Amino acid sequence: MNGHFNHKTMYRTHNCGELTAQHKGQTITLAGWVNRRRDHGGLIFIDLRDRYGLTQIVFDPEVNKEGWKAAEDVRPEYVLKVTGEVRLRPEGQSNSTLATGEIEVYISTVEVLNEAKTPPFEIDQEKAMNEELRLKYRYLDLRHKRLQNNMILRHRMVKAVRDFMDEHGFLEIETPILIKGTPEGSREYLVPSRIYPGKFYVLPQSPQQLKQLLMIAGFDQYFQIARCFRDEDQRGDRQPEFTQMDLEMSFVAEKDVMGINEKLLMELTQKFAPDKKLLTTPFPILSWQEAMERYGSDKPDIRFSMEITDIGDIVKESGFKVFTDTIAKGGVVKALKVEGAAGFPRSELDKLEELAKTYGAKGLAYFVYNAAGIKSPILKFLDEKTVTAITEKTGAKLGDVVFFAADDFVTACNVLGQVRLYCADKFELRDPNVFAYLWVNEFPMFEKNKETGEISAMHHPFTRPMDEDRELLDTEPEKARSVAYDVILNGNELGGGSMRIHEHDLQKKIFGILKITPEQAEARFGHMLEAFKYGAPPHGGIAWGVDRLVMLFAGEPNIREVIAFPKDQKAKDLVLGAPSEMPEKEIKEANIQILN
Ligand code: AMO
Ligand code: AMP
Repeated sequence: MNGHFNHKTMYRTHNCGELTAQHKGQTITLAGWVNRRRDHGGLIFIDLRDRYGLTQIVFDPEVNKEGWKAAEDVRPEYVLKVTGEVRLRPEGQSNSTLATGEIEVYISTVEVLNEAKTPPFEIDQEKAMNEELRLKYRYLDLRHKRLQNNMILRHRMVKAVRDFMDEHGFLEIETPILIKGTPEGSREYLVPSRIYPGKFYVLPQSPQQLKQLLMIAGFDQYFQIARCFRDEDQRGDRQPEFTQMDLEMSFVAEKDVMGINEKLLMELTQKFAPDKKLLTTPFPILSWQEAMERYGSDKPDIRFSMEITDIGDIVKESGFKVFTDTIAKGGVVKALKVEGAAGFPRSELDKLEELAKTYGAKGLAYFVYNAAGIKSPILKFLDEKTVTAITEKTGAKLGDVVFFAADDFVTACNVLGQVRLYCADKFELRDPNVFAYLWVNEFPMFEKNKETGEISAMHHPFTRPMDEDRELLDTEPEKARSVAYDVILNGNELGGGSMRIHEHDLQKKIFGILKITPEQAEARFGHMLEAFKYGAPPHGGIAWGVDRLVMLFAGEPNIREVIAFPKDQKAKDLVLGAPSEMPEKEIKEANIQILN
């Protein structure tokens, strides 16, 4: 995993991870940081550390009195250059957990290259600590073994991606960072222009438009390890700037894009996560509708089943008004059986109801199947026949709980999807040793904001509608599906892409449905509409979140752990202190006026 340092420099002949019994008797030079120092009677032992490992160096006053004296003053994180002789450790003292555990180096000369203040946290072993401190001293946090391994893994995975893409005929082409902005659903970062007062560059949310223009230019297989910028609320799997593995292909259909991605993901899995049990190959494909219906999510974790059941037919004429009214209004009633949940205390059920409400539920009714019968706040509204039918359809048994959600389709599914994940965590059903990939496709073209009623593109406005739903664009556009697909790993959206619109008229029409006026379309996307007039080939692509990919492969809980210098959860860079105030002169030059 560690890569190699295999050239001599003025400062070292070897690294701290490579000396073994084979080097016995050699005089070598190492440079590194003091990991730990131990005084043992006359001898001083130091573990010298670099990113390749640890080597035990020994200061013996009999070998070098001056050096031994210097070692007495040395403290953790001092930087040393040492020369000495490699010796086998005495009988019974070798350390098999260390690559260099057979040997130690008796130091004849030592040079303190630099001193170090006592670090704000321990480096030789990582302890749980305040993340703010970690991020402020990120360069010290990055000395921890775990983070060093994460950076190395990231490098190697990105390199493997580049090699694979190269072997498969893709060209990596850089696209600009100072652009006009491209809509991916987030707020954009603006850069004021000094030369053109009142005008702005926009940082790309993705290379979307540029890669499509590259297709028109004839670069039929493009990819890029691309930095993207999105001013959105931070979460564990989101950062304001992040990296995509972005690709685009011409003269392909959805299955071609899926095929090459699947091949690459399998190769990465074999190389970097060989111990993971692959649940499903080839990757299953679920339509968005099916993923929502069965798992209550457009990024389902399919490492466990616990599927959702529709009970609309059973309850549509029941006595419970919440259910009947919902169905009468075009909504759905869904049920989720959780095996073994009857043991949940009341407080847990209340917590679940709160969780459901944060996802828009109006409530979370349930049946608890315990020995005394069914316990439920809604039992009194339902006749026996209905209760029996629900029990049969969900297959509930003694010890189980069935949760209910009555709402519009998306809300009801999402709510139970969240309950499903919560319970799976509770029962430890999300096996960390398993990798379950899948595709979700046939996403709706559009989504409607529940509050404002505004319609927006579910993926982005360049996404192609499914041929069979073309007519719906004129009648019921909200029902039209797109040729869009996401690749999911263990319940995480790893990547998303689509086949694109390559026809000028169709693109104009989609802008129209999105209530973008022809004038706005011209101002924002005139270049795309114009480009489509010059022989745009059929094309499509995808982008993965590289940070998410590495996070999942490293088994880390959030993407900050696999980014060298991440922003904190409030979008701040704590090392450099960004964002920061600027000198008035520069603000003036940027033609900016600060309002408050
Ligand atoms: P999308 O917006 O789905 O698609 O982004 C693709 C992938 O990028 C990752 N991602 C993020 N990772 C970290 N922090 C973020 N803030 C963040 N936002 C997105 C996710 C996501 O699946 N241009 C299209 C792709 C295409 O159509 O080809 C796009 O950007 O893993
Ligand atoms: P209420 O009639 O509002 O007191 O609700 C009775 C029970 O039904 C409570 O347990 C609520 O949590 C639940 N409930 C209310 N609305 C819904 C809904 N839309 N879907 C599922 N359960 C609900």
